[in-house]
Amino acid sequence: MIRELTKTSLWLVLLLALLLPVSALAMENEDCLGCHNDSDMVGEELFINAQVFDHTVHAEMGCASCHDNVTEEHPDDGLTPAKAGCLDCHENINEDYAGSVHANNASCGDCHNPHQVRGLTEVSGHDLNQQCAVCHESADMVQQHDEWLPQANLHIAKLPCISCHTESDDYEIVLYIIQKESDKVLGDFELSALDDLQKLGGEKGAQGVIDLNGDDFISLTELRTFHRNPANEDLRLQATLMPSDVSHKIEILEDRYDCSYCHAAGPEAVQTSYVALPTAGGGYQRIDVEKGAVLDALYGTPDFYMMGATRNASMNIIGLLIILGGLVMPIGHGTLRFFTRKNRKH
Ligand code: HEC
Ligand code: HEC
Ligand code: HEC
Ligand code: HEC
Ligand code: HEC
Ligand code: HEC
Ligand code: HEC
Repeated sequence: MIRELTKTSLWLVLLLALLLPVSALAMENEDCLGCHNDSDMVGEELFINAQVFDHTVHAEMGCASCHDNVTEEHPDDGLTPAKAGCLDCHENINEDYAGSVHANNASCGDCHNPHQVRGLTEVSGHDLNQQCAVCHESADMVQQHDEWLPQANLHIAKLPCISCHTESDDYEIVLYIIQKESDKVLGDFELSALDDLQKLGGEKGAQGVIDLNGDDFISLTELRTFHRNPANEDLRLQATLMPSDVSHKIEILEDRYDCSYCHAAGPEAVQTSYVALPTAGGGYQRIDVEKGAVLDALYGTPDFYMMGATRNASMNIIGLLIILGGLVMPIGHGTLRFFTRKNRKH
């Protein structure tokens, strides 16, 4: 018995001896964040938001994989922490990036914060445009695009820049829940925050607001219930068009002058759609929506393009009515079919 114990402790000592030098060198993410998630300690400049960082894929690799020379004595060791280059790990991006206008004008860090990276599906269209607005000031952009794009302000507000400036195999419609700002009577709408949705969703959390049965799928019925529920009076769905994948070429594409690229009706229109809900990490999570449900968010008719191009305010209102009409059709039709189902049996 005693022999057994000594044997075990011997092994333990050996094991510890093996591990110690390593653990003495490598601080864990939490150790680093003990200081760097506290702006009183390190100041705003060196602050890393732990909650946001922990939700990134970079967190899985750990701080040390990019700052590999940070020792136990840091920050008193007199060493300047190393910072890994993005292309060390992302060389596949370089082919597109190096050939783009941005290669000499915007670095990876200008568009991405390494401590807040997200995949395309986890970023809102609004956040995407914030990346671009750092250099391409929104008002300038509206002015430049207005030369050929009617209601450029609306397009720029509702579409991510990359929907027009990157090539993608597919595009999809993403719906965000927006809400009326409570202090405004007519109400400007803004993206609903997680807290607000959680309050409305109750036990089921934010997702419960729209995915009523919690099956990670939003059916036509659930969409209708969402719109009709008096508790959701201040909520709307806002549609935007997103590319399914991103290229770093960021270029001017001739086919984007073509309005029907987006304002298409019928089988030409984008078929796939999602509702994107905010997550605790500051990103978004997508839920599939039943096919056909939101095609009409971007529904247009040939008349509508003409109206857009003439830039006549009242005509645009008619255009809008046509769009709304487009929305009413499938919903109204479905409802009518539902109420007249008994008649059809005869
Ligand atoms: C005891 C608190 C503390 C801990 C723990 C800590 N840091 Fe720091 N870190 C600092 C302070 C303070 C500075 C600023 C030092 C200076 O300016 O001389 C700093 C500077 C840095 C910088 C340089 C920023 C720049 O460009 O000026 C990096 C990178 C960094 N830390 C990463 C890390 C990593 C990675 C870890 C964990 C392995 C870590 N730190 C752990 C307090 C800490
Ligand atoms: C994927 C690589 C990567 C990981 C993982 C990473 N960093 Fe960084 N970090 C960088 C790069 C690159 C910079 C330089 C950014 C710049 O100069 O714009 C940087 C900058 C910093 C800075 C300077 C302030 C700033 O925001 O520019 C601090 C402090 C820092 N990192 C701490 C950390 C800590 C703490 C962790 C882990 C919780 C961590 N880093 C994880 C790549 C990384
Ligand atoms: C040590 C390796 C390493 C370094 C250095 C690194 N990354 Fe990453 N990064 C990864 C891995 C691994 C992934 C996950 C797989 C993938 O998307 O390639 C990732 C994913 C990403 C993503 C997508 C996030 C997601 O959720 O899909 C972005 C954006 C990103 N990195 C940007 C950067 C930028 C910008 C830098 C430089 C500041 C950088 N990375 C440096 C390893 C690295
Ligand atoms: C002009 C802005 C811009 C620059 C510069 C830029 N990116 Fe991106 N990148 C984006 C956008 C927009 C996305 C899509 C949204 C997201 O994931 O953040 C993206 C996505 C990514 C992704 C995720 C890819 C995926 O398929 O989900 C990686 C990895 C990445 N970038 C790495 C880099 C690296 C490395 C560099 C520098 C060589 C770089 N980026 C430079 C704008 C930029
Ligand atoms: C760090 C600054 C910076 C950021 C961030 C940035 N750009 Fe640029 N971009 C430039 C500069 C500089 C040019 C070249 C001069 C010009 O056309 O304004 C340019 C050019 C362009 C062009 C013209 C390309 C061509 O082929 O002529 C497009 C389109 C563009 N950017 C889109 C974007 C989009 C979309 C984003 C966000 C994902 C973005 N940019 C983010 C600096 C930036
Ligand atoms: C509806 C599609 C569409 C959207 C949305 C869009 N662009 Fe463009 N953009 C274009 C087209 C097409 C051109 C070429 C314009 C021309 O020939 O004058 C262009 C031109 C540009 C240029 C070059 C301007 C010049 O004259 O050199 C920049 C920079 C640019 N866009 C950035 C952006 C940014 C940033 C956003 C988001 C805020 C954005 N674009 C949104 C379609 C779009
Ligand atoms: C990249 C996709 C895309 C392209 C290309 C595009 N649009 Fe749009 N358009 C949209 C989106 C998204 C909206 C906003 C829908 C909404 O109200 O939510 C919109 C809205 C409009 C509206 C306003 C309708 C209203 O609600 O008042 C008009 C008018 C319009 N577009 C005309 C055009 C014309 C004309 C062109 C071609 C010169 C064009 N669009 C090109 C996506 C696009």
